[in-house]
Amino acid sequence: MKKVKKAVIPAAGLGTRFLPATKALAKEMLPIVDKPTIQFIVEEARKSGIEDIVVVDGKSKRSIEDHFDSNPELENNLIEKHKDEMLKMVQETTDINLYFIRQSHPRGLGDAVLTAKAFIGDEPFVVMLGDDLMDDEVPLTRQLMDSYEQTGASTLAVMRVPHEDTAKYGVINPTKEVKPGLYNVSNFVEKPNPADAPSDLAIIGRYLLTPEIFKVLENTKPGKGNEVQLTDAIDTLNKTQRVFAHEFKGQRHDVGNKFGWIQTNIEYGLTHPQVKDELREYIKDLGAKLTETDKKNS
Ligand code: UTP
Repeated sequence: MKKVKKAVIPAAGLGTRFLPATKALAKEMLPIVDKPTIQFIVEEARKSGIEDIVVVDGKSKRSIEDHFDSNPELENNLIEKHKDEMLKMVQETTDINLYFIRQSHPRGLGDAVLTAKAFIGDEPFVVMLGDDLMDDEVPLTRQLMDSYEQTGASTLAVMRVPHEDTAKYGVINPTKEVKPGLYNVSNFVEKPNPADAPSDLAIIGRYLLTPEIFKVLENTKPGKGNEVQLTDAIDTLNKTQRVFAHEFKGQRHDVGNKFGWIQTNIEYGLTHPQVKDELREYIKDLGAKLTETDKKNS
């Protein structure tokens, strides 16, 4: 069985939910406190044992390439000022096997993954979306790789979501829990109405896929939203080879929408050594202020 060594990070979407911030800046560069979301994803990949990462980028994505490139002017300045900690932080982002491919038009997530075909070749690989930050003792990507080592099959990460939210996700129709948290799946449905949703298990932003997915993607027509949907291709793949779903039990932060992004900034801020104390005090004061305003308005 071939080892999983490569990851694809699709980052060529338009990021319309964050306009106007994303007009010239990649959504994946929006920071959580002080770190761009894509850096969290790259760190998860490396902790999981991934060796090579390809970022699929589009227009206005230069900032991602620059972020992971060296910046001699900044580094020299930090050296001169003896800001060693900062220098280490800046240099850490360049010490990665990171490659870039351009998706010429944002035709959908499935199309973005297909652009990585030549880079991946005939190997299993992972797809990691910048919209989801995952916290668990064992990184979620590593959990999928461990599962693959036992089954040799494509495996998607899923998580239970409130039933009324199923229309926001790809949802699985599980047939059997083959072992705790690992499901056989009969089909995958992209963004079903809650009334039609086959379960509450939603696909979240980590996928481990066998290279056969590329042949399927080449023949996948645009689906929901007139985009080439990765979920549709996975549903087709599942008809010729097993695709499992692995239930994630850790904490997921959806930073791809405004409220989730603000929430994550607060939660990560509450553990960040430089701001946690001030933030805690601020939240306490804010709570008291809100209670006062609510009293006045009632
Ligand atoms: P989203 O559905 O979050 O779309 O894509 P988006 O364009 O990034 O954001 P909104 O909805 O307009 O605010 C899921 C992931 O797939 C990538 C995105 O960059 C994101 O990581 N993607 C999407 C591509 O790389 N190419 C595409 O054509 C579409």
